[in-house]
Amino acid sequence: MAKLETRIGDLCLKNPVIAAPGEHLIDIEGVRAAIEAGAGAVVGKSINELQAARHQLQQAEYTLLDRDWNKVDWSEDAPRGLTVFTRSGLPSLTFDAWLLQAVSMDRLAGQHDCLFVPSLVLAQPAAALDMARAIQAAGLKLLELNIGTPYASQAARCAVSTELVPERVARLTGMMVEALDIPVWIKISGQSERVGDLAEAAFSAGAQSVVMAGRSLGLVPDLETQKPVLDTSCGIGGYWNLPITCHWLATSRRRLGPGCPLIGTNGATNGRDVARMMLAGSSAVGLSSEVMLRGWRVITDAVDELEAYCDKMGMSAADLIGRAADARRTYTELPTVGDHWRDFIPSTADAAPEG
Ligand SMILES: Cc1cc2nc3c(=O)[nH]c(=O)nc-3n(C[C@H](O)[C@H](O)[C@H](O)COP(=O)(O)O)c2cc1C
Repeated sequence: MAKLETRIGDLCLKNPVIAAPGEHLIDIEGVRAAIEAGAGAVVGKSINELQAARHQLQQAEYTLLDRDWNKVDWSEDAPRGLTVFTRSGLPSLTFDAWLLQAVSMDRLAGQHDCLFVPSLVLAQPAAALDMARAIQAAGLKLLELNIGTPYASQAARCAVSTELVPERVARLTGMMVEALDIPVWIKISGQSERVGDLAEAAFSAGAQSVVMAGRSLGLVPDLETQKPVLDTSCGIGGYWNLPITCHWLATSRRRLGPGCPLIGTNGATNGRDVARMMLAGSSAVGLSSEVMLRGWRVITDAVDELEAYCDKMGMSAADLIGRAADARRTYTELPTVGDHWRDFIPSTADAAPEG
């Protein structure tokens, strides 16, 4: 049986399948289910200090969209290959209650050789710093700081962050790293042409890992109501996002080298996708919406599928990291294939004659 362990800086995960945050990881029962399903790590649903961010959860809405952009019922039996369209918010717990819950989740995770990861969504830096210090003081092993939610432009002012300027990413990361002894993972936005720059900024300021990349905002007009589906711009994701995530993973690995552990998120739905993101350069991979939609079995299956793939290839999970990224060629290195492009255009043999 293939070895699935993976290392992210100082920390070792029993396998690279991470249960990434979403509404299904708000309650302790959800975190327990993810741990018991066999995840290598579970990132609890994020929190911050703002009432406005909490209120957003009371306004949250979720739907699936088919290829004609029609709504599909949210159900574990929904067909594969749909787009996930949501607007989310943060849990209504007080920070103290959230922290108490996080400590018990950390203990539970430890009993299953799983890593529990507490997560903050940045609003005000000073408040985030206070919460981060409290997280460390409570004995938690690391902190994930999400500075790349999709929603900042739509949410109440400063309720959540979509940081797109590398200098600011470096400043915010540095602020956390200097204040804490525990490792800091920075989750960055994918709504940028500069994902590699954002990752480099976070690592250069001391992040131990960068999670890439957050979902984008999208808007879908409804042809009947002539209003936006779910009334506004929403976070948009789905299986189709995997190539974009893999591009950013490969680009960041090329730029930063293999010593900077990346975590892939956005578009993985099974164990073969975990393998794909690892081949693109990630050391571990988060699955969120697929688990929220179809349940805890997705995690167990993902671990099994990854193991089956590694067995078939005669490799460990760690052996996969970056192989496709390192095989990526530049366009100038590719062979010349002449008029091959003609095979990809429609025939004009039956086109109507002119006049
Ligand atoms: C409904 C919903 C809620 C989410 N909540 C959080 C959150 O609280 N903190 C966070 O860092 N990411 C959050 N995310 C982002 C996911 O963790 C994940 O990065 C993203 O959905 C892309 O991965 P996926 O394709 O596996 O869903 C949320 C995503 C969804 C769909």
